[in-house]
This record gives sequence, structure tokens and C-alpha cells, in this order.
Amino acid sequence: MDPRTNPYAPGAGTIPPELAGRNEIIEKVAIALDRCRNGLSSRGFLLVGLRGVGKTVLLTRMSQNAEAKGYVVVSIETPEQRSLPALLIPELRSALLKLDRHAGLEAAGKRALRVLGSFVGAMKVKYNDVEFGFDLGHEMGVADSGDLEHDLVSLFVEVGRAAQSQKTALVLFIDEIQYIEEEQFAALIMAIHRCTQQQLPVLLIGAGLPQLVGQAGRAKSYAERLFEYPEIGPLTDAEARKALEAPAKKLGVKYDTTALKEILIQTQSYPYFLQEWGKHSWATAAASPIQLDDVKFATELAISDLDASFFRVRFDRLTPSEKKYLRAMAELGPGSHRSGDIAHLLKKEVQSVAPVRASLVRKGMIYSQAHGENGFTVPLFGDFIKRVIAEVEV
Ligand SMILES: Nc1ncnc2c1ncn2[C@@H]1O[C@H](COP(=O)(O)OP(=O)(O)OP(=O)(O)O)[C@@H](O)[C@H]1O
Ligand SMILES: [Mg+2]
Repeated sequence: MDPRTNPYAPGAGTIPPELAGRNEIIEKVAIALDRCRNGLSSRGFLLVGLRGVGKTVLLTRMSQNAEAKGYVVVSIETPEQRSLPALLIPELRSALLKLDRHAGLEAAGKRALRVLGSFVGAMKVKYNDVEFGFDLGHEMGVADSGDLEHDLVSLFVEVGRAAQSQKTALVLFIDEIQYIEEEQFAALIMAIHRCTQQQLPVLLIGAGLPQLVGQAGRAKSYAERLFEYPEIGPLTDAEARKALEAPAKKLGVKYDTTALKEILIQTQSYPYFLQEWGKHSWATAAASPIQLDDVKFATELAISDLDASFFRVRFDRLTPSEKKYLRAMAELGPGSHRSGDIAHLLKKEVQSVAPVRASLVRKGMIYSQAHGENGFTVPLFGDFIKRVIAEVEV
């Protein structure tokens, strides 16, 4: 069918034509924001899920909603190897200037900007990726000690007061939060905690891979109670059908029941894969309705596309021993597997492969939900690695 109107949108962070199955969590976050602004108790959210389930697009939607309601929004993505202050400083400056614009240079906002200036000065000494050209002034003795935890707490309290004086809330959206270093994550949690204690309107909505739950707990034990950790997973059958059918219907295109069923089986209803299969099924079909044979042909195209991009970029970042480890893991089938069983297949002691496992966790390739258990963070990665590496090498 017409490639010009193909509605599906596979891609990292690409807004889907139909954001299926996420209304409940969107509403929960909206309620938390409103409560937070009104000085009522509310918890932040850390959305947890595998690669390609739609965490980034959810954060985007939530931040758009927050902005539309007049909240002050700060959105950052944590790349590997950037410090949190370096990411936060320019965004907080814009947020404070926005607050200021509402207020017309009001005292709390001006003071918060000066405190940010102090923070910049202190962090420049500590983190060499903090480069900041603007002179924001300085507030002597506040957020300028050089101790991240201490200074970030002071900064957030000032920012919270500035937001409060404008009867709004500051909402921090942080994607890929699992890449924040433990010490910096601890400081962030502490800063949010202090705002919560003082009923200041600052809320964190983050997203990341499943390991982030353990990381948060290790950074600060009370993190467990400070946030909710909703799991963002594959869609239900009905939601997955909606994700495929709704955009097609708008263009007068239908699916055969068997065709839809086949896509659900192939994709296991993972959002990213639904977009890939939708796109290729559309491209393959000559006319509506899209049929089973179209989907079967699309499956080949979708898999070769994924192998060349989605899976490949991750595979290319692996060392030879990491590839071997993942190949052995794939051999054990879908789901989580014990470190001991993987080592056994590699004919090695658990301890001797522990560094490889640790580096795979750091790279975000595998995660451990329970002690000694390992799962792929990328859905269907096991099948992929079996396609590219024929057998387990020891
Ligand atoms: N609820 C949904 N319904 C339909 N499609 C969706 C939904 N959520 C996400 N998608 C699609 O899935 C793909 C992946 O979304 P996104 O990049 O947000 O995932 P992610 O969880 O952030 O992945 P990663 O962990 O790799 O960053 C995009 O193409 C998006 O359009
Ligand atoms: Mg993402």
C-alpha cells in the first residue's frame, strides 16, 4: 500500500500513531503532579522496563501533558559517562528563567538562580564535564561546598521554593536513569527526599532498565518508599491489536483476524516490534485487508531490519567474551537464567565469568531481578544471537 501514508513509527523514542495501553499510568502521574503542586503528599515514579517497551515515548507524553498544564518541566536523558550536574545545570537554568518570566523577577526565583550559580561554581571544580558560560551570580554559603549531596539538596530546596511561590511544580523527567552513577543517584534521591519532607513541589518521573530498582535501593534504602516503580511491559492482546488497528482504520485499512494474530505471536506484543511489523505488513500488502500471507512476508523483512539495526547496534558494542556469554544464555531459552547454569555451559567457574557478567549489566545488556538470575534487557535478543552465532563456544 501507499508508503507515503504508512502510519507506523518504529524507532527509538518515536511517538507511535496510537499510544496503546498506557492511559492508566499517564493518569496516575497526572494525579501525582496535581497533588504535588497543591502541597499534598505524592510519590515520584520510576518507570521500569526492557528495551523498546515505550518508556521514552511515555515520558515524552507525560512531559507534554505537564507542560500543557503549566508545570515547569525539566527533561534530561542520561547518556553513559556524563555527570548529573553537567546534565542538570543548563536545564535548571532554563526552568528557573521560565519561572521568572511568569513572575517578573520575583525574589525566590532570583535567589534560586544565584544558588544555581553557586552550585555551578562548586561542581566545576568536582566534575570536569561541567562547562557553563553564564554568570548567574552567587549565593554565599548555599550549594557551594563542593559536596554533591549537600549542594544538590540546597539547590533543589531553593528551586522548590521558587516553584511554590509561583503556585506551580517543578517536574524532572529523567530517561535512562540506570546510567547515573551511584553516588550521583544517591544525591538526587536525597534532594528529592528533602523536597518531599518540606512539602516543596518538586517531583521526579524517571525511566530505565529493570536494574534501576536495585540501584535506587542501594543508593538510599528509603528510595523504595519514596517512589513508585510501575512496570512498563509488553501490551496485552487487546492493546496490541489496538496499536495496530487504530492507525490503519483512520486510513480505511483493515487487518484479517489471522494476520493480526500472527503479528501478536511474532512480536509477543512488544511495542517496538509491533511498529516494525505494522510498517512492513503495510508495505507488503497490495490492498486492504492486510492478510496472513502479507504478515508472513513482512516477518522476514522485519527480522532482517531488526538484525541490521535494533539488535546489531547493541551486538557491535560487545567484546568477544561478552558475546560468548550471551550466546550461552540464549541456549538456555527464553526467560531468566542462573549464573551457575550459564557458566556451566561455558565450562567455566561462576567466579571466572563474573567480570563478564558485571560488564554486561553495566552496558545494560542483561539485568538481574533476583540474586544470581540473568535476563536479556532487549526482548527477543536470545533469538537474534542464535541467528548470528551458530553455537555455544567454550
Ligand atoms: N504504547 C505503545 N503503543 C504502540 N507503540 C508504542 C507504544 N509505546 C512505544 N511504542 C513504539 O515502540 C517503539 C519504542 O519506544 P521507546 O523508544 O519509547 O521505547 P523505550 O522503552 O524507551 O526503549 P529503550 O529502552 O530502547 O530506550 C517506538 O517506535 C514507539 O513508537
Ligand atoms: Mg528509551
